[in-house]
Amino acid sequence: IHKIGVLTSGGDSPGMNAVIRGVTRYALYKGIAVEGILRGYEGLLREESIPLDRRSVGEIIHRGGTMLKTARSEEFKQVSAQHRGIQYLRSKGVDGLVVIGGDGSMKGAECLGKLGMPTITIPGTIDNDMAGTEYTIGFDTAVNTVLDAVNRIRDTAFSHDRVAIVEVMGRQAGFIALHAGIACGAEIVLVPEKNITLPEIKKRLVASHQQGKTSSIIIVAEGAMTGEEVYQYIKENTANMNPSLTVLGYIQRGGAPTARDVMMASVFSEKAIDSLIHGVENAIIGLVHCEVVATPYEAAQQYKFAINNDMYNLVHALGQ
Ligand code: F6P
Repeated sequence: IHKIGVLTSGGDSPGMNAVIRGVTRYALYKGIAVEGILRGYEGLLREESIPLDRRSVGEIIHRGGTMLKTARSEEFKQVSAQHRGIQYLRSKGVDGLVVIGGDGSMKGAECLGKLGMPTITIPGTIDNDMAGTEYTIGFDTAVNTVLDAVNRIRDTAFSHDRVAIVEVMGRQAGFIALHAGIACGAEIVLVPEKNITLPEIKKRLVASHQQGKTSSIIIVAEGAMTGEEVYQYIKENTANMNPSLTVLGYIQRGGAPTARDVMMASVFSEKAIDSLIHGVENAIIGLVHCEVVATPYEAAQQYKFAINNDMYNLVHALGQ
């Protein structure tokens, strides 16, 4: 490997910049040049890239977003577009590509690998929902952002005796909701992996209010149902719960990464470059049973980590 390309793709997540820095500086440390591709796979098609040196990735370690910009590219799903992308990379002398992103981005990387461009994916998404890893960069920051927001909302819920419903992101996974739910002491957490009906939610709320509670927090993962549905149901079917709804939205995607995210970003970066150097390619870097490993894309599907059942039960045991 003489020169790598690096790009960020899909939804941004806090810590992506720390990965760009880590990948760039560690590659240079190992004598490998670096080309930064702008706007994910779109940048390959538009032929937009910049050479990266040590200084060009200075002062980004603590910033959210991605200095390389990102995009979701429909066009890149076509094989002809992927060939064009590879041509552009080769014209720049790139002989290995590091992709930072989520599931869709990893699929793109896998396609490029099959067409002859070695790739490594570093998991970057707040959702924590990728095969081949227990941890994705940005997750910890998103959970802490939700915690901070809920702590503020809790003040009002308590003061006004209200049921606060907070909708969080996560796509089809409930990791953000569950981890934030435990951390903020929510009474009820709704995740797509588990079924709770609206009447069941009401039953739980009534039971805890009968035990003397006057306010409650419900965290709703967007993949389970909308916060609006829960809000409307409680409003129409209870007498004095006085619900409020907050949809946190993009607040969860931005902001300075936590120590855990920057630390994992740096360690994943090192593993990505070392993998390419040692001929391990077309693989995702991930945390598997607490070890940082590179797993080939095809094998990654065997390592699909689910939400922790005990944690799910605990949130409700503690929240009553
Ligand atoms: O994958 C990250 C994520 O923020 C999800 O949690 C959410 O469902 C989605 O992206 C939102 O996507 P968009 O950026 O297209 O609005």
